[in-house]
Amino acid sequence: MSRIFLSPPDVGPREREALLEAFDSNWIAPYGPHLDAFEAKMASHLGARDAAAVSSGTAALHLALLGVGVEAGDDVVVPTLTFAATANAASYIGARPVLIDADPDTWTLDAGLLEDELAERVASGAPLPRAVITVDLYGQCTDYAPISALCDRYGVALVEDAAEALGATYDHTPAGRFGQVAVLSFNGNKTMTTSGGGMVVSDDVSLVQRARYLATQARDDAPHYEHSEIGYNYRLSNLLAAIGSAQLETLTDKVSRRRIIKARYRAGLADLAGVGFMPDAAYGEPSNWLTVITLDPTESPLTPTELRLALDRADIEARPAWKPMHMQSLYKASPMRGGDVARRIFDTGLCLPSGSSLSDTDQDRVIGAISDAFTRSPKVA
Ligand SMILES: Cc1ncc(COP(=O)(O)O)c(C=O)c1O
Repeated sequence: MSRIFLSPPDVGPREREALLEAFDSNWIAPYGPHLDAFEAKMASHLGARDAAAVSSGTAALHLALLGVGVEAGDDVVVPTLTFAATANAASYIGARPVLIDADPDTWTLDAGLLEDELAERVASGAPLPRAVITVDLYGQCTDYAPISALCDRYGVALVEDAAEALGATYDHTPAGRFGQVAVLSFNGNKTMTTSGGGMVVSDDVSLVQRARYLATQARDDAPHYEHSEIGYNYRLSNLLAAIGSAQLETLTDKVSRRRIIKARYRAGLADLAGVGFMPDAAYGEPSNWLTVITLDPTESPLTPTELRLALDRADIEARPAWKPMHMQSLYKASPMRGGDVARRIFDTGLCLPSGSSLSDTDQDRVIGAISDAFTRSPKVA
């Protein structure tokens, strides 16, 4: 019996063929026709005017923040419940992440708390943040109607971190289409992968062109190497872009599969005491990148750690929910608004194997292992 992983790459002969075709073309460089084609295909898939492919979602976030004008000394609002890369991108620039709690109904940035933050700054004469980053957590879009309206009203740039949400929608608009600029990740654990990679997506063509320029060492237009500002070596390899285009062909199927997996977990775990699920917001369709369960400590016989270790013994990988940024030693001194919701999600949440290549048989093995762990640990009344 082989180990069941959380979210392994789902690749096949099509990706292999595309990779070899790019290899044989000798465009083995961070330039080339496959790179251009991947950008064009993703922009068209999302209905965006332009997209720049880079080496990671983190690099894309860094470039997106630079693109909306974030500078050293600025504040950038970041949901505390996220992966560290979201906050780190602000830190790379010397900006300060200002952390805000999650909405308990969606687990994404709480619009009410954001409004309090912006209104209080205006009332006290404190500078507004230069940007707000929203994170479409675990494949669920943020509530963009109120948050976009707030950013417009206060003149604050909005950057969408859609690293986890390719394939999700909000009011029929796909994740990756919100804010001035959005960011995707093609890390090996994401819904589609290039092994590692990311993208800057926007209708602002000059912002995307600038991202491409900064990603290629900010080389000025000259026959020699001429530089007037600091650049980065962030471009995606042409080889990996070929994998990306092949993955994009089956993205819709991959997302459908992840949705089915969540539905099967809901059905399979329905009778277990204290098991809940990350809520599905009514305003859109999540991509269900990961299925996240919660264990209510007053009802469940197991803690998330106990269940994770029981699954590990059965050769099944599960992971705790993201540890909020305000609980990380790295960001514990950052300004924080709220925090209990994210802390509770961290304390009670567990991410289950959710990859689109997970077979029904393997998922039944996961469901069976969870049920066994519950049976072996009856709650002492
Ligand atoms: C919310 C979020 N933002 C950013 C990233 C960074 O993406 P990458 O790993 O491609 O750098 C990730 C995941 O890896 C993520 O989950």
